[in-house]
Amino acid sequence: TTLRNASLLTALLHNTQQLPPMFVDSAENHRPALNIESSAAECGDQIPVVDLAPLRSCDPAARASLVSSIAIACEKFGFFQVVNHGVDHSLIERCEREAHAMFELPLDVKERVHRPPGTSFGYGANTWVNQTVMHWAESFHMQLHPTSNIRDFSQKLFSEGDPNKFSSTVEEYMAEIEKLARELLELLTEGLGLERDRFNHYVENERMMSMRFNLYPPCPQPELAIGLRAHTDPHLLTILHQDEVAGLQVQIDDEWITVKPRPDCFVVNIGDLFQVLSNTRYKSVLHRAAVNGTSKRLSLACFLNPPLSATVEAPQELITEERPQKYRPFTWLEYLSNAYKFHPATGGERHERFFLR
Ligand code: SIN
Ligand code: FE2
Repeated sequence: TTLRNASLLTALLHNTQQLPPMFVDSAENHRPALNIESSAAECGDQIPVVDLAPLRSCDPAARASLVSSIAIACEKFGFFQVVNHGVDHSLIERCEREAHAMFELPLDVKERVHRPPGTSFGYGANTWVNQTVMHWAESFHMQLHPTSNIRDFSQKLFSEGDPNKFSSTVEEYMAEIEKLARELLELLTEGLGLERDRFNHYVENERMMSMRFNLYPPCPQPELAIGLRAHTDPHLLTILHQDEVAGLQVQIDDEWITVKPRPDCFVVNIGDLFQVLSNTRYKSVLHRAAVNGTSKRLSLACFLNPPLSATVEAPQELITEERPQKYRPFTWLEYLSNAYKFHPATGGERHERFFLR
């Protein structure tokens, strides 16, 4: 893995004219062939954009209609974008600047925080989705809760400059996203016909929250490569910010739809855990990241989760004759450790099926 990391990074960082073989996705059906020049036109607008302004008004009818549009989006697509989300745009830009500053550090500095094989956090190649092809991406994964590793990373990376600027910005950003995630959790819970605080115990105190920066450099042969192969997110909820460059694609009715970049929006998606909690009313949907030949692309992905020891199980109200209980109860730790033991070789693997009843 260390060797793979090193060759990955060398290839990514040295403007190769030809795609090294380890990045060629031999499974042709996994190659997205996104043509960035035409991407604005190609982007679908199937994925709904939901206005969160009613959250800050006190109009119950407006809230009810918001709840229902979010629920419909999650039943159909598992994905939606939110505008008027309450997160200051200048904070998003500051966090993006810190992410770029981090990726622009020399390789030997980034290696100070490299992700050791088989672990989750730090800088390196994305190997968790599949290990048959190298993704055309650099990634940096950090955790805020239950214990933050951000300050430590920041000190190692920026010891020559101001080591607190990176960590304070990233922590401020994640704290804002966490607030938004809690509001969304309540809206989504109401959308299932439950009291809005019904799932709040999952994200109190010992909750887990992490963020991954993804940087996709311009790729010499984008039609042969992939930024991140098809996967579903294991988490409860993902809140992603993508810059103005297209790349995120979502599978809808066997077709890959490119999510229109809207820097004023966050992309929200249902993870496997929420699919389980909703007894499959909400869908955890396959998605992937395509790369292009001209522009680098940055995405910031925040993940909200219960503590590792939490038992995940759909509430009785959601179990009916037409919709019997689909999954056996399991803990988040069990989910993570079992699901990732299988290291899907092809991509597009679904982990929740291992927990079917
Ligand atoms: C992800 O699915 O984790 C990243 C997708 C993206 O970069 O848009
Ligand atoms: Fe994802």
